Amino acid sequence: MAQEGQPVNERFPRSSAYHPDWVLAAVSGGANSLWLTEWLVEAMDLHSGMRGLDLGCGRGASSIFLHRELGVQVWATDLWFGADERLARIRDAGVEHSVFPIHADARALPFAAGFFDAIVSIDSFVYYGTDDLYASYLARFVEPGGQIGIAGSGLLSEFAGPVPEHLAAWWEPSLACLHSAAWWRRHWERSGVLAVEVADTMPDGWRHWLEWQHVVAPDNTAEIDAVRTDAGRHLGYVRAVARRPEAAVLDEPITTIPVEYTMAPLTRPGHDDAG
Ligand SMILES: C[S@@+](CC[C@H](N)C(=O)[O-])C[C@H]1O[C@@H](n2cnc3c(N)ncnc32)[C@H](O)[C@@H]1O
Repeated sequence: MAQEGQPVNERFPRSSAYHPDWVLAAVSGGANSLWLTEWLVEAMDLHSGMRGLDLGCGRGASSIFLHRELGVQVWATDLWFGADERLARIRDAGVEHSVFPIHADARALPFAAGFFDAIVSIDSFVYYGTDDLYASYLARFVEPGGQIGIAGSGLLSEFAGPVPEHLAAWWEPSLACLHSAAWWRRHWERSGVLAVEVADTMPDGWRHWLEWQHVVAPDNTAEIDAVRTDAGRHLGYVRAVARRPEAAVLDEPITTIPVEYTMAPLTRPGHDDAG
């Protein structure tokens, strides 16, 4: 059923139950966070009572969705958006006993090691997760055997050369963080601490991308033209799910290296030219 001019996307039946005004009032980026979350959790083992980290949750729509749809307790964590507005949304949704807004940097998370059963990240991971050392850092926070899942805008395959001409008008340097499913598979596998279970691309992802852009940012003609012209050649939605193997041995993070000062002569004899 269409509500207030916005058609329901039948690919995402769970997301379609949420009121378009509620979804729009929580917009935190260019993608529909509920669609991406619905797609991601189809590839994950999430169930009621689990402790989940929603990393880079923006204004929290995906966190509320995760609790309402799957019964997961969610630590809704984000850097750019404040926790107060998120809390108001969480309270209004009646889930404040199960969804907890946290303001934190993904690179300095305030959680105990192994606290989470699962970690998800929606259209956010590219901002910090491309760092070669990040998988090892993040894996500490999920219990052995737990899953980490990401979904967001990406590439169908890495560019062999420069940015294709038909994307050049829209492209900006920060888009260098967009990668393909194969790239994420390799990136996580070579970390040595994650076993990749799924790394794929959403069928017709570019059509969903385009559909949502028309709803949320109809004046963003640069992006709309880029996605439409590209027509699924390069741009789409990418998903990756990995598990921290029970046997994975993680490096302890280096927070401080204790040292003691030992006095030693500064220069060799005959080279004391100070003053
Ligand atoms: C494109 S928005 C997506 C937000 C939301 N997940 C969604 O899908 O609507 C990217 C999000 O990543 C978050 N982010 C970027 N860098 C971060 C960091 N270092 N730590 C935590 N969150 C970060 C931002 O705060 C922002 O909300």
